[in-house]
Amino acid sequence: MSDKKRILSGMQPTSPRLHIGNYEGALRNWVELQKTYKLYCCVVDWHALTTMAEDPNQIALNSREVAKDYVAAGIDPSETVVFIQSHVKEHAELHLLLSMVTPLGWLERVPTFKEKQQTVGAERESYGLLGYPVLQAADILLYKPYGVPVGRDQAPHLEISREIARRFNRLYGEVFPEFVNLIPEDESRAKLPGLDADDEGVLRKMSKSYDNCIYLNETPEETAQKIMGAFTTPSKMRKTDPGIPEGCAVCQFLRIYSPQWQTQWQEDREGVRGCMQNKKELIEALNETLRPIRDRRAAISDDDIEAILAAGAVKAREFAACTMDDVREAMGLR
Ligand code: TYM
Repeated sequence: MSDKKRILSGMQPTSPRLHIGNYEGALRNWVELQKTYKLYCCVVDWHALTTMAEDPNQIALNSREVAKDYVAAGIDPSETVVFIQSHVKEHAELHLLLSMVTPLGWLERVPTFKEKQQTVGAERESYGLLGYPVLQAADILLYKPYGVPVGRDQAPHLEISREIARRFNRLYGEVFPEFVNLIPEDESRAKLPGLDADDEGVLRKMSKSYDNCIYLNETPEETAQKIMGAFTTPSKMRKTDPGIPEGCAVCQFLRIYSPQWQTQWQEDREGVRGCMQNKKELIEALNETLRPIRDRRAAISDDDIEAILAAGAVKAREFAACTMDDVREAMGLR
């Protein structure tokens, strides 16, 4: 086994394609971090079931497509362990054991639970949905990682995972080391906004559920069309009206994707450039950034990804099985 410190992260296959929020908040970091750390990157299909249990047919296909996005973005499967959560049953066993030491009150207070409660509706609110963070804690703790690279929205989940680990350690002895959050320092990446704004005209995060996403795997024409319709400063009707780049989706993206963003922002503010020019320049810069990812993705076959996932599950299981031996031993289960 490698001497490198380990890191672990995952994404839900609720859709067959990742958006650039997933990329900027997490995946881009994974690609960098895999050079220094042993990275375990998981496609968390059981987590997707917490909202898709009545219609699970798409999940298996989505999982393969998400794994293709990982590799297309630069994950190197010869170094990094790419696997599907449900292929490593240790995740389920640890989830069960951790569920015994997790107070209900902690789970009821998780902000994402309250949000999801509203989305799925009262009659579809399951025991599994409430336990979502316990399953995530199991994903993380199985690999005893040094850190977990995620976007800002995952901070509450990492905090509860940490609390669960501490409680386990207090009860049964030190099995799980502390881990750190690896969230992008740049806030515009840690919580990438979407193409639209909420009812108050405030930018909100890019999310599939808001239908405000640019996907890694879409055509340059689709990207262009979406950017043409993106939210800009509402009071900037003409080129000469002053813009407010902080509240404009297009300017937020320019900040990430255009090396000249400072000049572009200044000109936007001063009313010497219009939204149309910003949009055109963003389309060019963003499509150029995504081109290598899109090209690589087109070259990954179904067989390639199946082989990567099969090998990944073997490697993940190897580490996870050792952790489970420690866990059972600590709890006196034999
Ligand atoms: P998920 O599938 O919602 O998102 C995957 C990753 O993408 C990040 N992300 C964003 N980052 C910046 N801006 C955005 N607009 C944006 N949207 C999404 C998320 O922060 C995340 O890093 N609960 C997790 C999945 C999970 C997991 C784990 C993560 C299950 N087990 C263990 C880490 C470790 C989730 O729902 O991510």
